[in-house]
Amino acid sequence: MFFSIFLKLVIFYCLPWNNNIDASNIIFANTKQISEVHLDSTRLDTSVVVDNLGDATALDFSFKEQLIFWSDLATKKIQGVRLGNKSSKPFDIINTGVSSPDGLACDWITKKIYWSDADTKRIEVVQFDGKNRKVLFWKDIDSPRALALVPQEGLLFWTDWGDKAKIERSSMDGKHRRILVNEELRWPNGLAVDFAARRIYWTDGKLKYISSVDYNGGNKKMFQTNIAQAFGLTLEKDLLYLTDWTNMGISSCNKVSEKCKMLIPSNKHQANYGYPSGIKVYSPLLQPEYVSNCSVNNGGCSHLCLLSSDPPYYSCACPTGVLLKYNKKTCAKLL
Ligand SMILES: *[C@@H]1O[C@H](CO)[C@@H](O)[C@H](O)[C@H]1NC(C)=O
Ligand SMILES: *[C@@H]1O[C@H](CO)[C@@H](O)[C@H](O)[C@H]1NC(C)=O
Repeated sequence: MFFSIFLKLVIFYCLPWNNNIDASNIIFANTKQISEVHLDSTRLDTSVVVDNLGDATALDFSFKEQLIFWSDLATKKIQGVRLGNKSSKPFDIINTGVSSPDGLACDWITKKIYWSDADTKRIEVVQFDGKNRKVLFWKDIDSPRALALVPQEGLLFWTDWGDKAKIERSSMDGKHRRILVNEELRWPNGLAVDFAARRIYWTDGKLKYISSVDYNGGNKKMFQTNIAQAFGLTLEKDLLYLTDWTNMGISSCNKVSEKCKMLIPSNKHQANYGYPSGIKVYSPLLQPEYVSNCSVNNGGCSHLCLLSSDPPYYSCACPTGVLLKYNKKTCAKLL
């Protein structure tokens, strides 16, 4: 109790005044808007963080940098906005060569954005500043959707709701790719990580369940059947939050008791209401600090320093179309 008041005071006084999101509040993309749910208010009211968007779908954030990132399916862009300053406007990170980018995840440690595109059938990565864009996967991908990262372990997970639906995993530099789940799947769409238990949770929008496996795809547990048609999923402490296209609202499920309840019944009362899609808890607990080999001098890399699940736990990489030299650190001259 004391600690939580203390923490609130610290956060209150240390962050700038304007355009803030309180730590541990939920943020979600809602077509025209990015909204915040005030979890500590009894009515759980929402407020708009970013407005006038086209079709905001996937989202993530960097708590340390106070940045929110999202994909917009209408304008075909990946954008960001800086919090804590009311006059800061959304800026483009990627505005070419994306078509249906409906999954997105932030590596808060090395400041990268990973995204999936179900039309171009790719998973790509780029720096927060929009530089050094690289296609990580373009083969054996059908309709990639949700992405989740565990930068502390150099791991990337994603769902693919194509004809042969599957959940895959790889190292964050694109190596060591393997299929974790390919049974009882139709539209695996939401994906969340439980760092402490080293498990991933996902929702299936067609089969309407929540299930989980460990990081190796083992110890599968069916968590909840008969839920609504979920889209986005996130987890903080014991609670899973999901956006729900049946009721156009947000539900929460306790991972211990496995009980679910409607949290925000519907956003239909809001102006410009749309499908609530990407969802995250804006919390530093979900982005623990970690000193990686990319933290010092960009790992000696001339361009991208990507985290890896295997020793030495990072590797240098180049933007798409540029070769890495034999020293494995520098990229050949850009043509
Ligand atoms: C807030 O954003 C505006 C516009 O981008 C910028 O000019 C100004 O310096 C920012 N203020 C702070 C305190 O960062
Ligand atoms: C950094 O790289 C070295 C090998 O070059 C490796 O032994 C070490 O575990 C790595 N440290 C981290 C934090 O990944």
